[in-house]
Amino acid sequence: TTHDTRVLRAELLSFDADPGENDTPAEGSVRHIPDGALWIEDGRIRAVDDYARLAPELPEGIEVTDHRGKLIAPGFIDSHVHYVQLEIMASYGRQLLDWLNEYTFPEECRFAEREHAERLADAFLDEMLRVGTTTAQVFCSSHPVSVDAFFTASQRRGLCMLAGKVLMDRHAPEALTDDTQGGIRDTERLIADWHGRERLGYSVTPRFAPTSTRGQLDAAGGLLRNDATLWLQTHLAENTGELDWVAELFPESRDYLEVYERSGLVGPRSTFAHGIHLDRAMRERLANRGANLAFCPSSNLFLGSGLFDRLAAREADLNVSYASDVGGGTDLSGLATLKTAYQVGQLRGQPLTAWQGFYGLTLGNARALSLDDRIGRLAKGMDADFVVLDPQATPLLARRTSRCRSLGETLFALMMLGDDRSVAEAWAGGICQHRRAG
Ligand code: GUN
Ligand code: ZN
Repeated sequence: TTHDTRVLRAELLSFDADPGENDTPAEGSVRHIPDGALWIEDGRIRAVDDYARLAPELPEGIEVTDHRGKLIAPGFIDSHVHYVQLEIMASYGRQLLDWLNEYTFPEECRFAEREHAERLADAFLDEMLRVGTTTAQVFCSSHPVSVDAFFTASQRRGLCMLAGKVLMDRHAPEALTDDTQGGIRDTERLIADWHGRERLGYSVTPRFAPTSTRGQLDAAGGLLRNDATLWLQTHLAENTGELDWVAELFPESRDYLEVYERSGLVGPRSTFAHGIHLDRAMRERLANRGANLAFCPSSNLFLGSGLFDRLAAREADLNVSYASDVGGGTDLSGLATLKTAYQVGQLRGQPLTAWQGFYGLTLGNARALSLDDRIGRLAKGMDADFVVLDPQATPLLARRTSRCRSLGETLFALMMLGDDRSVAEAWAGGICQHRRAG
């Protein structure tokens, strides 16, 4: 691969800290450069500055791309998504457990076949980049080949991606069910092949408590104990039918979270998708371990799971990340996720500011996933992963944003009205991975 050396001239937005919940962002949290220069070299960011200040320092002949009128932000991050569910997005009806049995499990069976997995891994990455998402934490299927296909496709593009093989040793179709020790051995092989290779990381992936025996959960915890650099992704307290089932299957645990705690699955690199039905004590236990909850608003509305209590999580000092959860989610776009998060917030009296939203998609998610040493900010030395947003991408957006008088207003309009058309370019590792036609 060839890494570009060039400067992009545009309005620049990046966060150095959490902007807080107020309408105006906390002091020092936002880095905004109206006429900025982003200098990239060897896949990294070499400098970020006012264009006028950087211009005299630039070497003769360096290519400068003029993106004035557009807004460059760090590449979006999706903390929880299932690439194997791309083609069953928006399948009608039902709540979680029926939806899993009717659509999800049959679809995941198809990933036993290498060619299918390779086709879908590529299609998924194309779609992610089209909406400006450059990093994600991804569920594959139970089949190791589905993980090989996903990491191979990600590596070919030079992307920073976390992924893992689903672990299930009960309550799923035969074709998706692991032998308890076999599933762990497969995971160990995948970790050896992929974890820490270039920009890839391995997420140990027990699907959720009902589809694993205690033995499998304990063995997953054993993997994490052996290597503190591994990630962990699963689902937690999404749906009331699921809660009842977990209580029945694990009577020795006083609540759902304790099922995971007992197996050593709750740590600073653990992401729990949903967490809708939690009490304060559970939020505090998650916070004390440094774990994060992935807020998946479009999925929560689509599957009728409930309205995530974002401020309760924040009050407990619990990290919240933002995620599409496709195929339960109905949109891959991070902007669409923010729009739906805002709507969920409205129904709870917890409005989401554009500052908090864009922080969440970038540095917030990078921090929640412990990737903030590499991605999530436009800053010297960070990987050159960024999006070029076009606030005038469509006639309607141009009309709306022509009336905006501040960056905050423009960001809010983008978060409510934006989609793949607002993403002019997506770059990762210093390479333009997607450029919108036209
Ligand atoms: N819980 C267990 N598996 C899944 C899944 O595939 N999607 C969602 N949304 N929840 C789950
Ligand atoms: Zn999910």
